[in-house]
Parts: sequence; structure tokens; C-alpha cells
Amino acid sequence: MTGTLDGRVALVTGAGAGIGAGIARRFAAEGARVVVAEFDRATGAAVAEEIGGLFVATDVSRRDQVENAVATAISEFGSIDVLVNNAWGGGRVGRVENKTDDELAHGMAVGYYGPFWAMRAAYLDMRQRRWGRVINMCSLNGVNAHIGSLEYNAAKEALRTLTRTAAREWAPSGVTVNAICPAAKSQAFLAVAAQHPEIEAIADAANPMGRMGDPYDDIAPVAVFLAGEGARYVTGNTLFVDGGSHINGVAWAPDLGE
Ligand SMILES: NC(=O)c1ccc[n+]([C@@H]2O[C@H](COP(=O)([O-])OP(=O)(O)OC[C@H]3O[C@@H](n4cnc5c(N)ncnc54)[C@H](O)[C@@H]3O)[C@@H](O)[C@H]2O)c1
Repeated sequence: MTGTLDGRVALVTGAGAGIGAGIARRFAAEGARVVVAEFDRATGAAVAEEIGGLFVATDVSRRDQVENAVATAISEFGSIDVLVNNAWGGGRVGRVENKTDDELAHGMAVGYYGPFWAMRAAYLDMRQRRWGRVINMCSLNGVNAHIGSLEYNAAKEALRTLTRTAAREWAPSGVTVNAICPAAKSQAFLAVAAQHPEIEAIADAANPMGRMGDPYDDIAPVAVFLAGEGARYVTGNTLFVDGGSHINGVAWAPDLGE
């Protein structure tokens, strides 16, 4: 059987759970060799074993670990063709005036610098072979400026401008750079829903299609498309893979108090 990603090497950050795991599984099903760059050793190793990929323990907020993950992909598999910057963790819901420097710094490290370091390192290899795909997971939270999540919104919007800047600069090298803003019932979402069951119904009802997406069946196929040859003329875009949630926005307005 031939797959869309036969012969490709893909590195997916935060692939131990949620959307990242869905993308890693789908990439492997399409023939890619996948590096699972994840800081949770148990989940990362389990996904890598399941798909016949390679687990590299990686905290994306650490430049040395990000550069090591890219270098390991190249040394073990011979190249890096596809980079998916997906990892996110941390963050706290709170008002702008109550955010701390540390919270902002953490958000930017995980959500912006990590992807930047990975892109910078991977590009050296992609440029040589004049073929590459970068997919950055961004968020409607940032696009719409949802309240309570400044560090997340700021990092994700910085990542979208990095996406477009790199797309322009790297287009002549055959390297495309795109962003996906997803909506999915990831593990993180399901964990919250287990404690607050009403959230699942509210999220489903707010979605034009009446449901939040599935990481493997709804989000990952779009990542496969962007990673494949068929998307070679697509760069600098933001794809909203969210059942239409972005059209009128999401009325996410938690009570933050004064
Ligand atoms: N789920 C959604 O509806 C949604 C909406 C908008 C944007 N996103 C974005 O999609 C991406 C995936 O989201 P998800 O819902 O699947 O999240 P998730 O919490 O289910 O999975 C995130 C993964 O990243 C890992 N991770 C966290 N911090 C890390 C670090 N410093 N280094 C390496 N790995 C780390 C976690 O261990 C986990 O495996 C994120 O970038 C998120 O911001 C998701």
C-alpha cells in the first residue's frame, strides 16, 4: 500500500497525547517515520512504540532539547521532512493585570521559542534538500483574543506571524509553513470534561457542526494534506480545522472576577 507520506521523516512535538498523538498515528499510517518529541516519558514512549516511531524526550521550552530532537531525527532517520510544532502545556486562567512575568515567559518559551528553535534547526536540513513542511498548531483563542489566557494568546499569535514570515522567506527553498487552528476533544479537554461534564455539551453546542473534533479523524487528515506533495503550493496560511467555530467566533467568557 502506498501512503501520502511514504519515505518522509516527521517530527511531532507533544505527540504523547491529544492532537499530537492523532497526527503522529496518522502520519505513521501514511508511511512516515515519526519522531515523537514529548516531555511526558510514559505517553511519548507508548505512542512511539505503538506506531513504530522514535521517542525523544523533549521539553520544547529548552533549546538544547529541541535542537537535540531535530538532530536525532536526522541522525536516526537521515532527514527531517515534516515538522509539527504542537506541544503546549501550562498556563492559568486569569486577568491581564494579574499575570506574572514567569507565566508570560513560560507561555512564550513553550508556544513560541520552542517552535522557533525547531524550525531554525530543521530548516538547515530542509533547505539542503529543497523540500520541507512546517505545520504550527495555533489557536482561535489568540485570533479572537479570548479572555483569561494572555500568555497562550500572545504565544500563539506570535507563532502565526512567525509562520507567515518564514513562509515568505523559505518559499524559494521549497519549504512551506502553515498554521492550523483546531478544535478537538483532546486528552486535555476530556480531562476537564471529566470534572465538569457540562463543558462537553456546551462546547459541542457552540460548534456549528454540533461537535468538537476528533484528533485522529478530523484534525490529523488536514495535517497529512499539508505535509504531502499535494499541498506544495500552499504556504503562509492559517487553516481553521474547527467545524466552523471561527466563523462567528466562540463566546468564551469565563467570570474572572475583579
Ligand atoms: N484541543 C483543542 O481544541 C485546541 C484548540 C486550539 C489549539 N490547540 C492547540 O493544539 C495543540 C495540541 O493541543 P491538545 O488539546 O492536543 O493538547 P494536549 O494537552 O492534549 O496535548 C499536549 C501534549 O503536549 C505535551 N507537552 C506539554 N508541554 C510540553 C513541553 N514543554 N514539551 C514537550 N511536550 C509538552 C503534553 O505532555 C501533551 O502530550 C496545542 O498547541 C494547542 O494549543 C488545541
